[in-house]
Amino acid sequence: MSPVSHDADDPLAWAREYTPILRSYQEEYGETKPLSGYTVAFASHLETKSGVAIETLREAGAEVLFAPSEPQSTHGDVVDALDAREGITAFAWEGMTDDEFDAAQHELLEEEPDFILDDGCELIAKVHAEHPDVAAQVIGGGEQTTAGITRLEAMEEEGILQFPVYGVNDTPMKHFFDNVHGTGESSLTNIAITTNSIVSGKDVVVCGYGYCGRGIARKARGMGGQTIVTEVDPRKALQAHMDGHRVMDMAEASEVGDLFISATGNREVMREEHFEKMQDGAILANSGHFDVEIDLEALEAAAESTSTPKEGVTQYHMPDGRRLNLLAEGRLVNLTGPFSQGHPAEVMDTTFAMMFVAAYDMLVDGPDLEPGLYNIPDRLDRAVAERKLETLGVSIDDMTESQQAYTEEWEHPDSSF
Ligand code: NAI
Repeated sequence: MSPVSHDADDPLAWAREYTPILRSYQEEYGETKPLSGYTVAFASHLETKSGVAIETLREAGAEVLFAPSEPQSTHGDVVDALDAREGITAFAWEGMTDDEFDAAQHELLEEEPDFILDDGCELIAKVHAEHPDVAAQVIGGGEQTTAGITRLEAMEEEGILQFPVYGVNDTPMKHFFDNVHGTGESSLTNIAITTNSIVSGKDVVVCGYGYCGRGIARKARGMGGQTIVTEVDPRKALQAHMDGHRVMDMAEASEVGDLFISATGNREVMREEHFEKMQDGAILANSGHFDVEIDLEALEAAAESTSTPKEGVTQYHMPDGRRLNLLAEGRLVNLTGPFSQGHPAEVMDTTFAMMFVAAYDMLVDGPDLEPGLYNIPDRLDRAVAERKLETLGVSIDDMTESQQAYTEEWEHPDSSF
């Protein structure tokens, strides 16, 4: 692989160094340009790693239109650097309001993309709801996060999906690493930096023990936190218990937690009845995709006043004197806080590799798919895993012929019983 650029003025240079799979695609497809002739819409948190993903799609020949997937997570220097390149157009800027975010996504869709790579299903939902003529021409899409998959499942159930979509989130090379390790590590890092307060020794309440919650709880314990998990699924609750975390309902956890982190993909997980019980100084953060996990209206209504004791922290002053500290306005704490940089680059390398593969497979290899939500074929997932191991210099074994045969037969004549 060619050496990485260290141009100090290039905001993507550092991330590029830690995203070797994406760089390998840039090298492999930089000359043949297999995505030439296609316009790919890309929605994501706009920072350096997604910047490398965007330039990789462009390097492979696509015309790229990009927009944020969350209005507050955009890094302006990355947007400007990409927008200055031929064949890449930004529908984004740092500090967008929610209304501007909506308008920019509609403007992007009016450019009639052939393929949509989405994060939270905003572009895909909008194209169906408000640009049906554009939706009818879209070849396919890919969805990066759990919250977006939930929406796509609802669209499929209603029978309104107009094109095939790969559920990138559901592929092992995405959720085993991004959701667990990426969200776990970056949420806690950003909470620690924003508050400049220690995790060690704190009672850390993690709401939701799915992929993200599991990662957050594991990393919090690794940092010395006393972890507590809340759940609504009895199997996940049992798993948390067997993994060594304390499990309790939210009513009880509200009374003991010092730090609360939600990662459920659900709404109002922390609400009025919980705010009433929380201790003075409790810290509230959300890692789920939408800012609905902490009931912000109820928090506002319960408080007498608010203040900003530190950048990224909103302090709610309750009538009884308690202070509750909300981080990043209840938005994704690892992506929208003042010091947030999102997931580590090595993790996003595999996530964005899977997004690239989703576009490549549908546009270039052209499987004959009816509209609907699909898993990415396992061989493509394995291929990305192999490429990642190669970049890490890690070797694994191949099965011998007899081992391969053994896994495929139901009679085992050699066994002794
Ligand atoms: P998941 O589906 O694996 O886990 C969610 C868990 O929350 C489930 O076990 C569910 O039973 C539980 N849950 C639902 N309602 C609950 C409630 N009221 N109280 C307690 N538990 C409840 O989903 P995953 O992959 O962990 O994603 C969770 C959220 O995080 C989604 O919104 C997803 O889009 C988002 N996400 C955020 C990332 C980030 O960078 N912050 C990265 C990846 C995903």
